Amino acid sequence: MTTSASQKAGEFTVGNKTSTRKAIGLPDKGLRTKLSLSNKLPEEYDALVVPVFKGESGLELAATGLFDESVDTAIWELLAAVGATGKAEELTRVPAIEGMEADFVLAVGLGNPDALDEEKLRRAAGVAARSLKGVGTVATTLGSFGLGPAVEGFALGAYDYPGLRSKPSSSEPLGRAVFVDSRENAKKEMRRAKIIAGSVCVARDLVNAPSSHLYPATYASIIEELATEQGIAVEILDEKRLAKEGFGGILAVGMGSSRPPRLVRLTWEPKDCYHHVALVGKGITFDTGGISLKPPASMDNMISDMGGSAAVVATVLAAARLELNIKVTATIPLAENMPGGNSYRPGDVITHYGGTTSEILNTDAEGRLVLADAMARACGDEPDYLIDTATLTGAQLVALGERTSGVMGNGPLRDQIAAAGVAMGENAWAMPLPEEIAEAVKSPVADIRNVTGNRNGGMLAAACYLRHFVTEGIEWAHVDIAGPAYNTSSAYGYTPKRATGVPVRTFIEVLSEIEHM
Ligand code: BES
Ligand code: ZN
Ligand code: ZN
Repeated sequence: MTTSASQKAGEFTVGNKTSTRKAIGLPDKGLRTKLSLSNKLPEEYDALVVPVFKGESGLELAATGLFDESVDTAIWELLAAVGATGKAEELTRVPAIEGMEADFVLAVGLGNPDALDEEKLRRAAGVAARSLKGVGTVATTLGSFGLGPAVEGFALGAYDYPGLRSKPSSSEPLGRAVFVDSRENAKKEMRRAKIIAGSVCVARDLVNAPSSHLYPATYASIIEELATEQGIAVEILDEKRLAKEGFGGILAVGMGSSRPPRLVRLTWEPKDCYHHVALVGKGITFDTGGISLKPPASMDNMISDMGGSAAVVATVLAAARLELNIKVTATIPLAENMPGGNSYRPGDVITHYGGTTSEILNTDAEGRLVLADAMARACGDEPDYLIDTATLTGAQLVALGERTSGVMGNGPLRDQIAAAGVAMGENAWAMPLPEEIAEAVKSPVADIRNVTGNRNGGMLAAACYLRHFVTEGIEWAHVDIAGPAYNTSSAYGYTPKRATGVPVRTFIEVLSEIEHM
């Protein structure tokens, strides 16, 4: 099933299950490794992956529990002989010992044994998985220091995006990883880790897909397919419905493109649940800047400007797969920001869903305009919490760098999300909504304007703008992932190049916390 770039947008109408719409999928998906659990070593495996530490007196190998002590000792001696130190993320390959069914042993450094935490384990597992491309099957005891993080790190590190190269790439991914663990809880932990990692990979696939293939109509259909499989209710509003219902922000941003915008709504609602979390994610399938055109350098990275929406889709899928006892809705505005004869212009005034008006001063500040409509719509459902996420501002990168999301909001939810981000290794930091910046968002000709006259504090200005679309009494947080959603440098830890899947794991963690609140 492939998506043709020439498919007409209208073919994918929406919410109409009887239509003759062709089933479509992503043109290309990242390669995955099969993960399984076993209480003993598999009959055949190519490599054994073991954790090692940098102890007070040097290299330490924890007893594998799989072989005679003499075999463990022989592994330690070989590793020590080639200079392994056990420092964090260090990889050392040595030949297998007589009597093992493997070709080689890979030792993964976890650093100081007293300073080990889940993120260090996830990262080390990710580094190991990335080094094992082309290997068939590995068995590993990495899970003995935390099965969940080890599996997540392995799965996320093994993900490899092949793109649409006509010849297959020379290195296949790692075929299979068998986690040897006989604890009673292992099955449950494995299942959860696989769902979490799988959801992150869905977000990565969506973000990695080029805009030639992924545009509002095709994206909406893909979301519909993914959600329907999981028993999540889907509603898709096409451009006519959007006009009828007054979604002026989504329409303004989307109308410069020949590919019309959409609004997708997802609902996961288990019986008898107590809390309702509404998620909103920016889904600009490509951001040229519009009439306020961006410079050409690195504009290709703007295929990732739907990273917020991808994270939100993946989070709802995870909530369903994990059967979280919490109502989760997603309101996802999809548009392509293009210059054209039909584009919106600087100087325009638009009316959002709900009636708030915005003066447009820069068509490249489009994300907040589509989010505004979606947030106003999401508030109409009277959720307890509203969380939005977006690749919203270059100012996020200036303030916090490439790997730390900025979290803003109107209550304790802000700090809860920032703390969850740090715990999950998807770093996040709380940021303020200063009074003078909130003042600067006001407009002389509309309720608010989409940029201030001042570049300073641009991430905060965007958040101050968004606050206008939160109904009083709803606790709200906004997560700016402009840098963290897309890795433009090289791979590290369990994070590949391109799409990272941030902040899916943070969101799953926050939903799980709210479920038990
Ligand atoms: N999609 C961009 C933000 C972005 C920049 C994401 C870099 C990822 C990496 C957003 O729509 C944008 O262009 N924002 C402008 C806002 C400005 C005009 C106030 C920006 O940050 O320059
Ligand atoms: Zn923009
Ligand atoms: Zn954008």
